[in-house]
Amino acid sequence: MTVISANALGLLVLVALARASPSCHDPRAVPSGVAEWAAAHSSAAAAVARMSQQDKVSMVSGIGWDKGPCVGNTAAISSIGYPQLCLQDGPLGIRFGTGSTAFTPGIQAASTWDVELIRQRGAYLGAEAKGCGIHVLLGPVAGALGKIPQGGRNWEGFGVDPYLSGIAMSQTIEGIQGAGVQACAKHYIGNEQELNRETMSSDINDRTMHELYLWPFADAVHANVASVMCSYNKLNGTWACESDKAQNSLLKKELGFQGYVVSDWNAQHTTSGAANGGMDMTMPGSDYNGNNVLWGPQLNNAVNANQVSKTRLDDMAKRILAAWYLLGQNNGYPSINIRANVQGNHKDNVRAVARDGIVLLKNDGGILPLKKPAKLALVGSAAVVNPQGINACTDKGCNTGALGMGWGSGSVNYPYFVAPYDALKTRAQADGTTLTLQSSDSTNNVAGTVSGADAAIVVITADSGEGYITVEGNAGDRNNLEPWHNGNALVQAVAAANKNTIVVVHSVGPIILETILATPGVRAVVWAGLPSQENGNALVDVLYGLTSPSGKLVYTIAKKAEDYGTAVVRGNDAFPEGLFVDYRHFDAANIEPRYEFGFGLSYTNFTYASLKITSTATSGPATGTTIPGGPADLWETVATVTAVVTNSGGVEGAEVAQLYLTLPSAAPSAPPKQLRGFAKLKLAPGASGTATFNLRRRDLSYWDTARQQWVVPQGRFGVSVGASSRDVRLTGSLDV
Ligand SMILES: *[C@@H]1O[C@H](CO)[C@@H](O)[C@H](O)[C@H]1NC(C)=O
Ligand SMILES: *[C@@H]1O[C@H](CO)[C@@H](O)[C@H](O)[C@H]1NC(C)=O
Repeated sequence: MTVISANALGLLVLVALARASPSCHDPRAVPSGVAEWAAAHSSAAAAVARMSQQDKVSMVSGIGWDKGPCVGNTAAISSIGYPQLCLQDGPLGIRFGTGSTAFTPGIQAASTWDVELIRQRGAYLGAEAKGCGIHVLLGPVAGALGKIPQGGRNWEGFGVDPYLSGIAMSQTIEGIQGAGVQACAKHYIGNEQELNRETMSSDINDRTMHELYLWPFADAVHANVASVMCSYNKLNGTWACESDKAQNSLLKKELGFQGYVVSDWNAQHTTSGAANGGMDMTMPGSDYNGNNVLWGPQLNNAVNANQVSKTRLDDMAKRILAAWYLLGQNNGYPSINIRANVQGNHKDNVRAVARDGIVLLKNDGGILPLKKPAKLALVGSAAVVNPQGINACTDKGCNTGALGMGWGSGSVNYPYFVAPYDALKTRAQADGTTLTLQSSDSTNNVAGTVSGADAAIVVITADSGEGYITVEGNAGDRNNLEPWHNGNALVQAVAAANKNTIVVVHSVGPIILETILATPGVRAVVWAGLPSQENGNALVDVLYGLTSPSGKLVYTIAKKAEDYGTAVVRGNDAFPEGLFVDYRHFDAANIEPRYEFGFGLSYTNFTYASLKITSTATSGPATGTTIPGGPADLWETVATVTAVVTNSGGVEGAEVAQLYLTLPSAAPSAPPKQLRGFAKLKLAPGASGTATFNLRRRDLSYWDTARQQWVVPQGRFGVSVGASSRDVRLTGSLDV
């Protein structure tokens, strides 16, 4: 019985910065990051004391759109040896880079549920940004969280569950910042759709704000994120970048955020409102025509007129400088070269994430993995590289050819691209397989390509992105949850001619699969997500069983779009669904999903046994002193759950064991189950491993709106451990 490797997730997320300090080896005993921020702020205060008002204004004001080497730039301040600061997109690599890696989108990283791969992805993102001289990398993304399945930018983030998103945020930030680069948690907050994002108001009630949308940002702050980007939308009618409540009360006071808030590009609307509302840096410093400069000289005037206090200006500069000192960027930093070749071996991480993020949804009769078929057919325009070129469309604003990422400012250039056909051709040659291809979505003559083949693989897609580009009529958000390019009809035509049809889906988010699943001859559905540059290689790894699929869905796939209970909103969004998004809604409303959150098949089987629960948790509010992320005791482990998982099948594989908590009734109107732990175990056939779930005080808490505190309710907590949010294998309870 051998455990090949086991990742226990939960509290024990050490901060790279804290780890370097000998006094901080136990994150439960010594609040992580407190001493480091204090030192950084004292260096910053000393520097600010030497700066003129003009220096301070220039430190907080971008120099204007398209005026420097990066998407955001501030002027150098020679009196304190401060450089021209470079802020660059984005969450999956170096935007406009020509020698950098196109990492997998956040949604794919989350689908692996593998903290080591997620952290390595962050470390490589940081290494590449540093190699390019970028001071601030504009990611990772926790907003959009993804409450609207059609939301255009959901794919940039880590899925719709705040706990999973929070773990992925902290791992990514620690990876990026461990490399010496400032991370930027975005978009803060409530930017859940592209339609009207620059005019609409997101009106989120206090409890929902805390338990869903703020949650992953708390993880980001706890990981000592250097910067946070305020979003385009309004909150309760006030611009997010001017929201005293969101920026001053929640982020800086309640979460103890020590870094700075930077505006999304042109998300600032007034000079004093933004300054007094808690924004610390404006980007890019002008509108896209070089006009409408709201800080710079305007801020100087506002300070002189006492509309913005000198203390507030000092605080902005101190926060920006503290982040710079915190990351050690004052000690020699590479000069800016966005086009540097910084790829190293990072493609290995792309392939691993692309592969391990693939979710096997259906595999009737074990048609997969493929075993040296004599004849194989491949169908779909998404099976081949975009005929116009891998980077032909500006900011990936097209869905032509194989899909690797969505579109918008969160996209990057591919250094190379391996499409399904490229990788399958190589494999077919090695196996002596005859591979036939139809690289279009035409249903007319597809029977000729696929009939007689041992299996037919049909590749379909769904794409989305940022609203400044419209692709095939989709203005960022998707118009519907159907496959693009007539995917249902294409699958039907293929399956009519070949009873061993394997459907591969490359998608930004859920699509409705009912037509496809009702089609006789569809034997397998491989949910391949957004694999970036390693698209084909990752697919072949799984199709041929070089690796057993181990990804799990990070959102629900519904039977029909209306089942989600959320959709793109026309006017302001009152967030009427509250806490009940995705599986929280399906569970509460008793709606059967097609494939539930957390679902994913394997080429092997896993059994669960020996649930053990130990707890020292006490009821009542968290009352600790505020550290980055909130009250210190909120982050302490108060209960540990273990379960033994055994690979009972015939091949090596990895299982993502998941823990869901049901709060006692003392927590009013809570969702039936909430993810509060997961562990990915890689197991040889016959081997067992222990999944360990460390539950922190926050994992047992709900936000008590009357007390304005996180409270552990008294009573019996239900503990469900299993293979998905609905495939519960072990249950137990925990009394507090
Ligand atoms: C929005 O309004 C609700 C209801 O009054 C309040 O609970 C919440 O804190 C407000 N949020 C912000 C960001 O202003
Ligand atoms: C997994 O278990 C199912 C029944 O629960 C069985 O049909 C299948 O053959 C098993 N697969 C493997 C790979 O052991």
